[in-house]
Formats: sequence, structure tokens, C-alpha cells
Amino acid sequence: MQNDIRVLNQYAQEDLSALKRELAAQFEARFGASSEPVRFFAAPARINIIGEHIDYNGGKVFPAAIDKYIYLALRRRSDNVIRYDDVRFPGIFTFDITENFAYKKESDYCNYLNGILSILKGRGVTFDSGFDALFFSCIPPGGGISSSSALECCFARGISSLYGLNLDGVEIAKIGQESEHRFMNVNCGIMDQFIIAMGKKDQAILLDCATIEYEYVPLALGDYRFVVMNTNKKRQLSDSKYNERVSECRKALDILNAELARRGEPALPDLCSCTPERFAELKDCLSDDVLLRRVRHCVTENGRVYAAVAALRAGNLAELGRLMDASHESLQSDYETTGVELDTLHEEAGKIPGCIGSRVTGAGFGGCGIALIHKDAFPEFTDKVGKAYRAKIGYDAGFFECGTGDGACALD
Ligand code: GLA
Repeated sequence: MQNDIRVLNQYAQEDLSALKRELAAQFEARFGASSEPVRFFAAPARINIIGEHIDYNGGKVFPAAIDKYIYLALRRRSDNVIRYDDVRFPGIFTFDITENFAYKKESDYCNYLNGILSILKGRGVTFDSGFDALFFSCIPPGGGISSSSALECCFARGISSLYGLNLDGVEIAKIGQESEHRFMNVNCGIMDQFIIAMGKKDQAILLDCATIEYEYVPLALGDYRFVVMNTNKKRQLSDSKYNERVSECRKALDILNAELARRGEPALPDLCSCTPERFAELKDCLSDDVLLRRVRHCVTENGRVYAAVAALRAGNLAELGRLMDASHESLQSDYETTGVELDTLHEEAGKIPGCIGSRVTGAGFGGCGIALIHKDAFPEFTDKVGKAYRAKIGYDAGFFECGTGDGACALD
């Protein structure tokens, strides 16, 4: 079993055809032979370079897909049975395609998958057969680089191909997000599903979450690389304070709009439509300090996204790094989503000469951070930051250098 995983891991890094062959063998060992072909799909993890917790506030975000993937082997059946299995967490889960799916704790990761099927059915899709599905993931779970969105988008891409649904990347992203809202009870924004469905190698995406307009921006980092720093503090968005942040923002928006109505001025559609000047004029109506700080984060973070993209385009990586630091500090003091683990990584990263910026990436509350470091600094970085983290937190952080990746696709 450990040996199987080692082999698959190695193939995932070096040889995609060998990975497909090995995954096909494991698929047949679990599900038996059939005249139907086994199809293969993959979806990447993501980092968010900057623009945190503002996707659900109509802001702009700047994520990139990275070169760590989840893989899916999928085959149609002739009856209505659905079987899911996972190489790392073996055990077959069985469902029926005609079921009315509902979230069930004991269905574990299958909830993400049944959620997608349930949203598709709600949109009028009818399935004329079941399928067998085997997953193999190289993305650390619960780690803040969006393993769950990768699972959803990989599966939606596979189901779209298997049943000829012709879903494009934007539709896949929207279905994934809707499933999180309606099935998983997480009121997330669209950033994760969007970058995972639409990412391209060597590019980041500047996404306007209010309009879903987007633009690819070359990720030209010269001698610098992004390193993912995993706190190894596991958490699931559903049991984090994520939804609490979403409701705080809604509440703050209502207060600002009540004030604007009192002044006879038009309402703001979302918090990120509030410019820094507007915020300075309106902020006194936010008498609750917590809400005031939440809004200040949204307003300043949205500005940092524009500045960071301009800095990257101008080749000014030092400025990009400075903005990443400022983003972390805003999430630490105003938005309060970092915590001692991520703050320790950020603080220690800042002490390494080759590191020009670092921040939490994704929801926070544990999960991962990213650092922008010189390509030669990796050994010193992981050694020093790793030791300091262990000394303070009591267990190890994980580190890996990441490149960019392509969005969810069929591996044909
Ligand atoms: C999670 C959510 C995203 C986004 C980030 C924070 O990853 O899924 O929609 O809100 O947190 O930026």
C-alpha cells in the first residue's frame, strides 16, 4: 500500500503515462474489468498570491494554479451504481445515481462529489448510468491550498466528459461554488474553483469577483520562487470561522448602506466597491470595532491587489513582496484569520535574507502560507524557518517550492 503510493507519487512527478497505467491497474484491482474505457482527469491545487477574503466581497483576487494535482480514473457502469475509492484512504463508498443526495457526515469526502451531482441534477442533467471513480491526490488535505476545490473541479470535469455535458471552466467553477454553498454549507467565494478550473501554466489570474471578468498575467519571477509553507494545522472550512467572517462583512455592508441611504446616496453593491476615500468618510458609522476592522481589511486589500499586479508587471518583485507582507499583517490584525502558526511562519520567513515577502494564502485559521524567496535560499529557508516553527509550535511545518500548473483537464 505505502509502496503503491510511493510509485504513484513518483510517476505523478515524472511520467504521466506511467501514472495512468499504474492508476488503471489499481482501478481494475478494485472495480474489475469492463469493456468501457477508463478515462483520466487531473486538477491542480492553488496559491493565492494576494487578495484574501475579498472574493465574497466583490474584490479582485490574484491566484495561480500550482504543479500539485489530484488525479481521477473514471469509468461508466451499465447499472445505476456509483462507487468511489481513494488510493490514500482506501475503502469503497457506494451510492446510487438516482438517489436524492444529501450531506451525510459518514459520506466523508464523497459529500463533495455527491454535492456536484446534486447541483447538476438541479440544473436538469439526467444521468443514464452510474460510474466507478478512483482518486489519487498529491495535494495535502485540509492544508489551505484548496484540496477540496481541486477534488470538486476534477470530478466535475470528469463527469462533464463522461456524460457529454460540455461544461466549460467557468461553469465548472460556478457549480463547485454552488455545491459548497448548498451542499457543504460553506459560503465561499469563487476564487478557488475559478483558478482550479481556469488556471494556466506560467500565469496567474487577475479575477474580478464582482463581474467574473478575468485576465491572465504572466508570472515572471526571475530568480525568485514561491514556497508553500504548511502549518500542518488541519482544519476544514466548514468548522472554521470562515462563515462568521462572511456574515460580519454582510452586516458591515448593511450598516454602511443604511448610512448612505440616510444621506440620500446610492448603496454600495459590496464592500470592495468602497474606495479608501469613501471609507474614510463613512467609517464613523461602524461603531463596532470588529466590523470596522473587517471593512478596513477589504478596502486596503483590494488596493493591494492592483498595486501587486502593477509591481509584477513592472518586474518590481521587491514591491510585490512588500505588499504580500502588508496583506498578511492586515489579515493578522484586522481580519484575524492568521493565528500563531501562520504568524510564526510569516515572522520567521521575514528574517531570512533571501525572502522578500510572505503571507497566509487562502482562508487561514491554520492551513498554508506562501513566501517569495530567492531560488538559492530554499535550503537555508526551510532549515531556519522549520527549526524556529518547531521550537515555538511543537511540531513540524512542511515546505515545498512550487511551480505553476494548468487547470482541471482530461489526461487523454
Ligand atoms: C477560501 C475560500 C475562497 C476565499 C479564500 C480566502 O479558500 O474557498 O473563496 O474566500 O478562502 O481568500
